[in-house]
Amino acid sequence: MRSKIVAGNWKMNLSQSEAKQLCKEVNNMNIGSGIEVYIFPPMLYVSDCKSSSTVVKVGAQNAYPKDSGAYTGEVSMWQLKEAGIDAVLIGHSERREYFNEDHTLLKQKLDAALFHGVKPFFCCGEPLEIRQDGSFLKYVKNQLEESVFHLSANDFEKVVLAYEPIWAIGTGQTASTEQAEEMHAAIRSWVEEKYGNTIAENTSILYGGSCNPGNAQALFACENVDGGLIGGASLKAADFSVLVAEETWTILN
Ligand code: PGA
Repeated sequence: MRSKIVAGNWKMNLSQSEAKQLCKEVNNMNIGSGIEVYIFPPMLYVSDCKSSSTVVKVGAQNAYPKDSGAYTGEVSMWQLKEAGIDAVLIGHSERREYFNEDHTLLKQKLDAALFHGVKPFFCCGEPLEIRQDGSFLKYVKNQLEESVFHLSANDFEKVVLAYEPIWAIGTGQTASTEQAEEMHAAIRSWVEEKYGNTIAENTSILYGGSCNPGNAQALFACENVDGGLIGGASLKAADFSVLVAEETWTILN
């Protein structure tokens, strides 16, 4: 059975004391049974959040594929592993757009994360013009083919996928349940073609993009949506606590 996951991507937000406070609050939340919760704080706070987390897992929003060396400003997957960090985001649209991360680099990051045993959350998703011209399934399939589908079945099983339509990120415009389910079902079918039915059924595919307490229950109830990668709503403890609560997931059980 695939894991149900709620992950908070804090992006480049919060002061040190705010991050500490929010981390504490998330660890004290009433988390529904069987739901795995991850937080992805800014790199500066990752270690502190990890040391003070008893319940939730802690990941980094980025890391570099080389283990060590003259890469000023970077932190490596190996260093994350050494520091006991659980997971890493790879392929977020903001990194693709603002930092020009291409398929090749994302592939290298994925390989390095898996090599060091840091759980990768691989993000994919189309921009608005691709949604509008109707080629969004092809676009997302290509993202997976370019950076993910080279993995062996054994490695792929450790990857969490997150579908985040760019037009829905931080815009307040969520994908409808039909749009989310269409893409998630398509992603699962491509995974099945590549890795077979068992692995496809066990792959967690999260939805991200303006997911909030008002729409999470309907999204999480979609057959192929296994949770959320949450930006804005993960910064407010009151909102995030709704997303991880049993009630938001009960219609699934
Ligand atoms: P959002 O961000 O929930 O603020 O739309 C999601 C994400 O970028 O992971």
